[in-house]
Amino acid sequence: MSRDSTRKVLTVAFLVCLVCSIFVSVAAIGLKDRQEQNQEEEKRRNILQIARLYDPARSVDEQFKKVSSRSVDLASGQFTAASDAGSLYAIPPAKDFAGIKVRPRSMEVYLVEEEGSLQQIILPVYGKGLWSTMYGFIALAPDLTTVSGFGFYQHGETPGLGGEIDNRNWLARWPGKRVYNEQGEVKLRVLKGPVDATHVEAAYQVDGLSGATLTARGVSNLLAYWLGENGYQPFLAGLRQGGGVRP
Ligand SMILES: Cc1cc2nc3c(=O)[nH]c(=O)nc-3n(C[C@H](O)[C@H](O)[C@H](O)COP(=O)(O)O)c2cc1C
Repeated sequence: MSRDSTRKVLTVAFLVCLVCSIFVSVAAIGLKDRQEQNQEEEKRRNILQIARLYDPARSVDEQFKKVSSRSVDLASGQFTAASDAGSLYAIPPAKDFAGIKVRPRSMEVYLVEEEGSLQQIILPVYGKGLWSTMYGFIALAPDLTTVSGFGFYQHGETPGLGGEIDNRNWLARWPGKRVYNEQGEVKLRVLKGPVDATHVEAAYQVDGLSGATLTARGVSNLLAYWLGENGYQPFLAGLRQGGGVRP
């Protein structure tokens, strides 16, 4: 076979492709466990950060020891043993404030307990912003209505505009705000513009983000959905009425 024959060129190209594909496959399979471990660690770090518990000097695993996860059936508001997170519920369009169309029937929630008493409950929330679905957590104090932390770990809003939902100064305005009024309605929302501290509803209001009114509206809407009657409200109401977090 001459050096430049078509057959030789194709054979060499084929062998190069074969060797490379073997390398890539071995790397992908060999690193799969490590990738899953890193993803889990990243998720735990996000939960700790949003709940304002994260200490960068200590390992995530060690800090996560006081957090336990439980699966909650949203319709009944009860803890469930089996996570049927794969089973989906179609949200009636009139109730779909978060713009997500479907959600899992059960959600994984995170409890922070110290010596058997609940310190915080951390709830996953997500919904449409202007350009993207925004994924985050809201942490509540033991009264189940005072916010102890809030933030997003994934979104595709514009940096400098909607992306300011990651701004630390803005996120620092959430702890201490309240979710429900005396009638049990979700009142927590982001305003357009600053909060007037003398307003009767100031405890439920968070300053707006300039240039990000549409993203901020998405934040208010997803909170209204997830903390409302079609989201975690039946679960939180059950806990408040003395159900406790242990079966
Ligand atoms: C390229 C581009 C990207 C934008 N990205 C966002 C965004 O991520 N979130 C948002 O709320 N508004 C975004 N806007 C601005 C909206 O179009 C709208 O002007 C803004 O939400 C109004 O906010 P304001 O009332 O605080 O000015 C963007 C505008 C442009 C031109």
